[in-house]
Amino acid sequence: MDATPPLLQVEDLQTHFDLPQGVLRAVDGVSFTLSAGRTLGVVGESGSGKSVLARSIIGLLPADRTLTPGGRVVFDGRDLRQLGEAEMRQVRGRQIAMIFQDPLTSLNPVLTIGRQIEQVLRQHTDLSSKAAAERAVELLDEVGIPDPRQRAREYAHRMSGGMRQRVVIAIALACKPRLLIADEPTTALDVTVQAQILELLRRLQDAHQMAMVLITHNLGVVAEMCDDVAVMYAGRVVERGPVAAVLQRPRMRYTQALLESVPSMTAAPHARLPVIEGAPPDLVHPPAGCSFAPRCRHAVENCSAQRPPLTGAGEGRAFACWVPAPQFQEA
Ligand SMILES: Nc1ncnc2c1ncn2[C@@H]1O[C@H](COP(=O)(O)OP(=O)(O)O)[C@@H](O)[C@H]1O
Ligand SMILES: [Mg+2]
Repeated sequence: MDATPPLLQVEDLQTHFDLPQGVLRAVDGVSFTLSAGRTLGVVGESGSGKSVLARSIIGLLPADRTLTPGGRVVFDGRDLRQLGEAEMRQVRGRQIAMIFQDPLTSLNPVLTIGRQIEQVLRQHTDLSSKAAAERAVELLDEVGIPDPRQRAREYAHRMSGGMRQRVVIAIALACKPRLLIADEPTTALDVTVQAQILELLRRLQDAHQMAMVLITHNLGVVAEMCDDVAVMYAGRVVERGPVAAVLQRPRMRYTQALLESVPSMTAAPHARLPVIEGAPPDLVHPPAGCSFAPRCRHAVENCSAQRPPLTGAGEGRAFACWVPAPQFQEA
């Protein structure tokens, strides 16, 4: 047993939005822990609450509609929910960095990329402006941008998608965060560039023992990059555990459905999540029982009446299902 407490502990996190049509339960009771140097993959169809989960952890939610959040986010022993906005700003960027789903919108169009990195460094460290400018060039070099001194003087719109994503990563990693939350960091990129960016993330992670939450649609990316995986559906984690176990022997029927439609993890390492028949539920009026029951071909009567709890299954695994797939493949 590892005696050191995990770096990040998310406990029964709830993020609900107050909308004209009712209360939308975007994240509805998510718990997990993450230790230094480890990577947790978060997968699930579009709309399952992955991005809202990420934003909830770093406290960037729309103030006009977010209801008082439930649960705890304990980072390095501190409950982030108890911090004021000024303290939280210090944590963000310096200790926890986030790569947002859309890299272009997180870059400033009117500042050179060098200046943008310098700003982050000046905000969070006591480097002089000269030292920050030097460090910015080093960072661009570290993320594999050729001719970094020249590139530092350019603007984001002149760069390719892959180069921009490297800049975003350089900004995220400028202060050597202890936790990186990456929301679909390679979704917009072609397969070759995607592989390079993932390799880069892995290398930088190893160098700093950084923990990572990697949100992705891509099960191949999970298999390659992650230690553990959490499968989200309708705002909840419906299965989690070590990657190999979950991907090879899924128990929850939604995980199984996701995996079944991928012909082979090795034959299709970059296969995207397949489409499962039917649509995810309306999160304003979620079904009473298991939220996957209406689409599940294994569902029995009880499934639409009672919600299955996320229950531990040994070896760090847990799943929420009344009719789980068998633990061992029948011969
Ligand atoms: N700012 C917002 N205001 C209202 N609803 C939102 C907002 N952001 C996300 N949602 C809703 O929360 C749910 C989860 O969204 P999201 O976390 O973006 O899903 P994912 O990242 O898994 O595709 C969706 O139903 C989405 O429409
Ligand atoms: Mg998202």
